[in-house]
Amino acid sequence: MGNIVYGNIISDEIKENIKNFIEMSVKNGNRQPHLVVIMVGDNQASKVYVSGKNKDCMQVGIKNTTLYYDDISEEDLISKIKELNEDKTVDGILIQLPLPSHINKDHIFNILNPQKDVDGFTPLNVGKLYLGQDTFVPCTPKGIIKILEYIGYYDLSGKKAVVIGRSNIVGKPIAQLLLNKNATVTICHSKTQNIIEQVRQADIVVSAMGNAKLIKKDWLKENSIVIDVGINRDENNKLCGDVDLEDVIDKVKYITPVPKGVGLLTRAMLLENTIIAYKNSINNN
Ligand code: GUN
Repeated sequence: MGNIVYGNIISDEIKENIKNFIEMSVKNGNRQPHLVVIMVGDNQASKVYVSGKNKDCMQVGIKNTTLYYDDISEEDLISKIKELNEDKTVDGILIQLPLPSHINKDHIFNILNPQKDVDGFTPLNVGKLYLGQDTFVPCTPKGIIKILEYIGYYDLSGKKAVVIGRSNIVGKPIAQLLLNKNATVTICHSKTQNIIEQVRQADIVVSAMGNAKLIKKDWLKENSIVIDVGINRDENNKLCGDVDLEDVIDKVKYITPVPKGVGLLTRAMLLENTIIAYKNSINNN
């Protein structure tokens, strides 16, 4: 029987440490950390994520300002971000994706101050990640690495990892981070032929494809580690991952559930990245 790795066990401890750190910092006369979240339009999923971010910040003592725009031109959004880039009371700036189609997200991330880029989406920070330099790592991949380390996998020499999905937010950066840990990494995506054959060879599977319960036990190697990043609805409209957990649980060594898995780490990593930005800011001012 495999082990289900619940995210809250790891994320609660991280959040507790952050809360204690902020309390100490404020006691020592520093200001509170401050995260600004920008949301444009009324994407329902984004609203849920943004309110979760609000709640998390409040729990640990990070000041959170959320700027909601029903509509805004690209030019005006760029002016607003330039203003926040210079504002010394703002540590982190998060621009919730997706943006409406009249705003080119590349233009936005090209002007965002990389030192406040708590998502790790600016070209400079993406480049640093690929060079193996210290930088803001996108929250979901960073959270996945925390999970692997929590279950004892620090070095992945000799391990084969298969990542399903090639997005800039999850697939590409997690592949890079696994490579930095010496894994042999394959990225599969919608144009890959024989995905199952690839996955069957994997010691570590990271799935971020968005297909409800598609991965069954015949996809997996015995004793593999399965990290499920999918957020889907099953036939009963219940949240579920890309992996059919009940079907595979006897075959795997570890698996993260959906919900209560990777998502909680993603949220905790945003707080951790905000604290990194905060520390840099209070040490430089
Ligand atoms: N939309 C979905 N996931 C994310 C994320 O990690 N960051 C941002 N900014 N937007 C998202």
